Amino acid sequence: MCGIVGYIGNESAKEIIIEGLRGLEYRGYDSAGMALVHRGRILVRKESGKLANLESKITKKEFTGNLGIGHTRWATHGSPTRENAHPHLSADGRIAIVHNGIIENYLELKAWLIEKQGIQFRSETDTEVIAQLLGIYYEGDLIEAVQKTVSRLRGAYAVAVVAADDPDRIVAVRKDAPLIAGIGEGRNFLASDIPALLKYTRDVYLIENGEIVVVSRDDIKIFDEEMTRVKRDVMKVTWDADAAEKGGYEHFMMKEICEQPDGIRETLQRRIGEDGQIKLDGIRFGKKDLEAITRIYIVACGTAYHAGLQGKALLEGYAKIPTEVDLASEFRYRNPLVDEKTLFLCISQSGETHDTLAALREAKRQGARVLSICNVVGSSIARESDDVLYTWAGPEIAVASTKAYTTQLVCLYLIALYMGRTKGTLSEEEAGRIIGELMALPEKAAETLKAEEQIKKLAERYYIKEQIFYIGRGADVGTALEGSLKLKEISYINSFAIAAGELKHGTIALIRKDTLFFVMATQDALYEKMLSNIEEIKARKAQVIGIAKKGNKRIKQICDEVIYIPSCADEVAPILGVIPLQLLAYHIAKLLKRDIDQPRNLAKSVTVE
Ligand code: AGP
Repeated sequence: MCGIVGYIGNESAKEIIIEGLRGLEYRGYDSAGMALVHRGRILVRKESGKLANLESKITKKEFTGNLGIGHTRWATHGSPTRENAHPHLSADGRIAIVHNGIIENYLELKAWLIEKQGIQFRSETDTEVIAQLLGIYYEGDLIEAVQKTVSRLRGAYAVAVVAADDPDRIVAVRKDAPLIAGIGEGRNFLASDIPALLKYTRDVYLIENGEIVVVSRDDIKIFDEEMTRVKRDVMKVTWDADAAEKGGYEHFMMKEICEQPDGIRETLQRRIGEDGQIKLDGIRFGKKDLEAITRIYIVACGTAYHAGLQGKALLEGYAKIPTEVDLASEFRYRNPLVDEKTLFLCISQSGETHDTLAALREAKRQGARVLSICNVVGSSIARESDDVLYTWAGPEIAVASTKAYTTQLVCLYLIALYMGRTKGTLSEEEAGRIIGELMALPEKAAETLKAEEQIKKLAERYYIKEQIFYIGRGADVGTALEGSLKLKEISYINSFAIAAGELKHGTIALIRKDTLFFVMATQDALYEKMLSNIEEIKARKAQVIGIAKKGNKRIKQICDEVIYIPSCADEVAPILGVIPLQLLAYHIAKLLKRDIDQPRNLAKSVTVE
């Protein structure tokens, strides 16, 4: 998704802006550009494609300046061409802007600008209306022009603005799109996300909705909508810069798959006391609060939604609270039954997913209490929730989510256990048994990773397949869906996941000789049923790779091959069961020479609807 970087200081800005944009490459983009302010002029360079294309256009020494803004764009309105890349300029070329988000009323504004102001547009973007409005409203006071402009906008935006006639500052404003200001010495920064600034500073201000920030060399001033100065605490970024790099792995995705034992350990460690009691970072739900909750909605997108599917069984099983799982993009538009007795549990790695954030706001508006599971501290979802339980997975850079998923599952276990114990619906003994299973997971996840060599060989055998099916029952359905999504998004192989019992209701018609199935059979309670499904598939001469717990021998006799995960309780098997599927997707994508960390058409955080 789009990224913004701004710099003002005494050094050459272009290298710093490029470095910042590189820090945001993981978010996905299809064009990039920057504007520098120099000697009363605005100089712009932009290119479609990768950052290297832009870099080759900024080498000339005439393209210089100590103040500038940069952008990586992921096309929404208009194709990913140079013309549509940001920055965009006002009609007289004296104001330049970069923008993340979507302006919903841009057509109406564009018509007004063309018909009433005689503006000729140079791009197909919604963003250009902001630049043109600024040009019209600028009468010597850039902040006033920004205020007048945003008063006409509907939608989501983080916008950074520079003006040739106001050469000592960058003015930026945000609504529903992330924005931070980075603090330096004799220089300051702006960015949409922290990784853009990690090379330069760890001290940042998080800019809130509706605020305007004015960044100059020696000062960062934040104002609210009434232009009252706001005092903001500095947030110290504690991540290691190395954590955002590949650390010897060929791809971030593989690094992140291998980091899962640590992520699971970290996420657990801070929450389970030596006495076996669960502590949710100060989140408090008393017995009465929990008894008053009549319904939980788990709402999320993509991989986070698949984690949510597992959460339903846990919350209903341990805390005995009716739970529904919904796609965030659907939730808002189906008039869900939400009131003050509803707990809205949203799951998001990035904390910036537009659909999830919009669903959260809707649930809040209707009176629900909001608890979120999030990986990014200070993200919009984290800030707008009543309570947050963080996944301590560390930054997840690859577009394909892996360690965020397994740590989201850990958080769901913790929440369900905590609620079950507090409510008294889960016995101490049962809770102790599950906690024991959870505590053993880091080691078992490491053990599961050892199947990589076997999986590599399977990938070599099957990467030429045109479609691959995944099936499972119970908790394995979510794992099958997640494995299938992983494969699709990074290998581009058509893939389909379905509850095994549903096969015979239609999908079985697709089975032909050599159709490939990955069959999840990690649930002891449903093992026999899965064996019957495998027989059905084999009877139609398809190929079957089983995923089962160590010790289950019969499955080996009927499958073409079996990948074993360590033995564990059924409840926690999804955490281990997904790992072979992640590895498989990775190795197939690698053999197909795909862009594993930044698959086509995808972005790390989807901040548009
Ligand atoms: C998964 O591999 C995808 N990248 C995607 O489905 C992702 O999980 C989804 O967009 C939700 O993102 P979030 O967790 O940041 O909200």
